[in-house]
Amino acid sequence: MNSSDWEKALEKVAHEVSSENFSAALTEEDLESLRIRFLGRKAPLTELLKSIKELSLEERRLLAPKAQQIKSQLEAQIEARALEIEKLRFDAELKTQSLDLTLPPLLPLRGRSHPLTKMQDQMAHILGLMGFSWAEGPLIEDDEHNFTALNIPEHHSARDMQDTFYVEGGQVLRTHTSPVQIRAMRKQKPPLRIICPGRVFRHEAVDATHSAAFHQVEGLYVDQNVTFADLKGTLEEFLKALFGPQIKVRFRPSYFPFTEPSAEVDLSCLFCSGTGLASDGRPCGICKKTGFIEILGAGMVHPNVFKAVGYNPEIWSGFAFGIGIERVAMLKWRIKDIRNFYSNDIRFLAQFEDTELPLLA
Ligand code: PHE
Repeated sequence: MNSSDWEKALEKVAHEVSSENFSAALTEEDLESLRIRFLGRKAPLTELLKSIKELSLEERRLLAPKAQQIKSQLEAQIEARALEIEKLRFDAELKTQSLDLTLPPLLPLRGRSHPLTKMQDQMAHILGLMGFSWAEGPLIEDDEHNFTALNIPEHHSARDMQDTFYVEGGQVLRTHTSPVQIRAMRKQKPPLRIICPGRVFRHEAVDATHSAAFHQVEGLYVDQNVTFADLKGTLEEFLKALFGPQIKVRFRPSYFPFTEPSAEVDLSCLFCSGTGLASDGRPCGICKKTGFIEILGAGMVHPNVFKAVGYNPEIWSGFAFGIGIERVAMLKWRIKDIRNFYSNDIRFLAQFEDTELPLLA
């Protein structure tokens, strides 16, 4: 093809392009066939661009930009129309679909922490304000940490206080959080103030108030000249922050191998306000007419325990306590059956809204 024929052919293409009504393409398919017609492999413009090599260099310099310009213009037109077509389709869709803004929304289900976690956090919060820091230990313990170092020697009848799950190889599922006392003291030098919240296991028959797996918060305070008065003051403040300033706290002598002296601590009954009588005048069924409910075990750390961890009992003294999380939660929230905590019934679990964390007086 000579250059004047080539130029004429290009003009013909230009004319065709300019007389084409791109707005007549109403769908993506319409537009695609236009694209194939003008820019496809067999389109006149494509053929022309291919045959441009046959022209001389000078002719090419003159004509190639014209052809390129037509091509770019075509591409721009097609793209612009594609956007218009999309908008047309969207507008049509909006006309057929409608949104009812008066429908009630689907409320998202909000997760919350388990009541036992809430109670544990409340207890840790109060003790944290008193300067106790959080410590943890393993659920599968060795005999040494769970018993021997806590002044419960092998074959001693005190082992019967806690019915134990034994694991193969002589290990046990920890029967209390007290082994964490041993771990903490072996790791840190005194003075020390720790709590250990966690799960414990006892070989118990399950009923409304017993579970084979439950939770405790252990506390341990070691320093010079710690006395039973410190123990009493700390626990009284702790229990008042937890249950309210109106409660009375009572200490009764008791026995634990790892504390001496030992005490069991009672709380004035929350159900009859310590009167021993229900509102109908009959004996209170919760405290059995005594006006008090047992809430925790405590005592001064036994010298043998200090010896087992390498603390000198002539220099250091301390107190320890252990309190059941389920028991506190049941008393505070008046839950009658401990099994509610483990049944994963959302109707039960959803009743415990986040309450404000108590502060010390
Ligand atoms: N470990 C005891 C128990 O589980 C509770 C306790 C802890 C008593 C610390 C005294 C001191 O029964």
